[in-house]
Amino acid sequence: MTAQLSKKGEAWSARFSEPVSDLVKRYTASVFFDKRLAEVDIQGSLAHAEMLAYQKIISADDYAAIQKGMSQIQGEIAGGKFEWLLDLEDVHLNIEKRLTELVGDAGKRLHTGRSRNDQVATDIRLYLRGSIDDISGLLRDLRLALLDLAEQHADTILPGFTHMQVAQPITFGHHVLAYIEMFGRDAERMLDCRKRVNRLPLGAAALAGTTFPIDRERVAKTLGFDDVCRNSLDAVSDRDFAIEFCAAAALVMTHVSRMSEELVIWMSPRIGFIDIADRFCTGSSIMPQKKNPDVPELARGKTGRVNGHLIALLTLMKGQPLAYNKDNQEDKEPLFDTVDTLTDTLRIFADMARGITVKPEAMRAAALQGYATATDLADYLVKKGLPFRDAHEAVAHAVRSCVDQACDLSDLSLEQLRVFSPLIDDDIFAVLTLEGSVAARDHIGGTAPRQVRLAIQHLRQQLG
Ligand code: ARG
Repeated sequence: MTAQLSKKGEAWSARFSEPVSDLVKRYTASVFFDKRLAEVDIQGSLAHAEMLAYQKIISADDYAAIQKGMSQIQGEIAGGKFEWLLDLEDVHLNIEKRLTELVGDAGKRLHTGRSRNDQVATDIRLYLRGSIDDISGLLRDLRLALLDLAEQHADTILPGFTHMQVAQPITFGHHVLAYIEMFGRDAERMLDCRKRVNRLPLGAAALAGTTFPIDRERVAKTLGFDDVCRNSLDAVSDRDFAIEFCAAAALVMTHVSRMSEELVIWMSPRIGFIDIADRFCTGSSIMPQKKNPDVPELARGKTGRVNGHLIALLTLMKGQPLAYNKDNQEDKEPLFDTVDTLTDTLRIFADMARGITVKPEAMRAAALQGYATATDLADYLVKKGLPFRDAHEAVAHAVRSCVDQACDLSDLSLEQLRVFSPLIDDDIFAVLTLEGSVAARDHIGGTAPRQVRLAIQHLRQQLG
């Protein structure tokens, strides 16, 4: 008796004397989550069948029958009519069984020279490649939305912080550009990871390759892979490409989370730097005055689960001997959830960036507190010939005296300022203004409005 997809569905039935229990069936099945791979599974099968026919391993008629059957299956899946059976364990066996029902022996020949091990590795790579392309597009959208915000506020001044203490005045455009840089590196990482995702495992079969005269490069070309995986054992077993993707995704979420933290702080009525459009916020069921920034808070929270998926995949991989082990079936849910979380988050953030209202007066008022231009005064003294450490000391005394009098450095008269250094002249007042302070940082990467505009122009060219 030959092994076949029996009525009960086990592809290996002849080898077994008793069926698995319902619990084991449920435990080992993956169909309810891996059916998401159906489209790429069919794409991979069609490329494999085309090659088998080209190499005369199956007949042209068989290939035609497989094509016809698969197109019907695609229709059934798209129309929600396909019956997914737990008994058939996973997406691969479900589709193969239906194909055989539809086209008979041709369907049974599809699996020649192939194993589910190289099949599933191919499917995940195809799926992930598509996801990376979508995510790259979403990162671009987000950067474009943030560029608009940066451009509107190239001149808007707010305090820049270190240690959450007012440090120096900066422009809001410059602050937003910092996130655009982060998301730019995230996009680079996605593209780089894509190179290693885009290699074909098919042909590795179960682990050692196959005795049939296959043409792997032909399949790679059909499926748009840049190369074939060069070692069959490695091809079916390693999921480093998925781990790499999850690491890149964790970094995107980390950047989203940092930005979320700032949005939440800025929107707090205590700070009041921004408002976020109502459609991204919710109220409280008990406190009528509340408008909560739920979207950034949730994004910050979801960063935890994406980081968790990275650790899950690393842990999944670390104890596995070569080659394929069933452990690898556990790669899918973390990977899928990472893709879903990242996709939704990026989409919502691009929308939300367009729904942010900046309150320049509040930002300005905050920048006027905390002696944000103290460094400018020190730099001024250095330019007049004082060594920096002495300038630092002189300004520290000036700040201390302002703290005692509860005033700002710019509130001191020339006479009062000269107490701290005779080098101070009346050209100091231009230096102590917020505008003077930001405009003076006029070099690549600096906060001057002119530099912010140049950076925006450069990025727009880059993003096309
Ligand atoms: N559902 C399996 C997975 O996701 C497919 C490969 C099964 N291979 C095997 N030898 N049992 O990894």
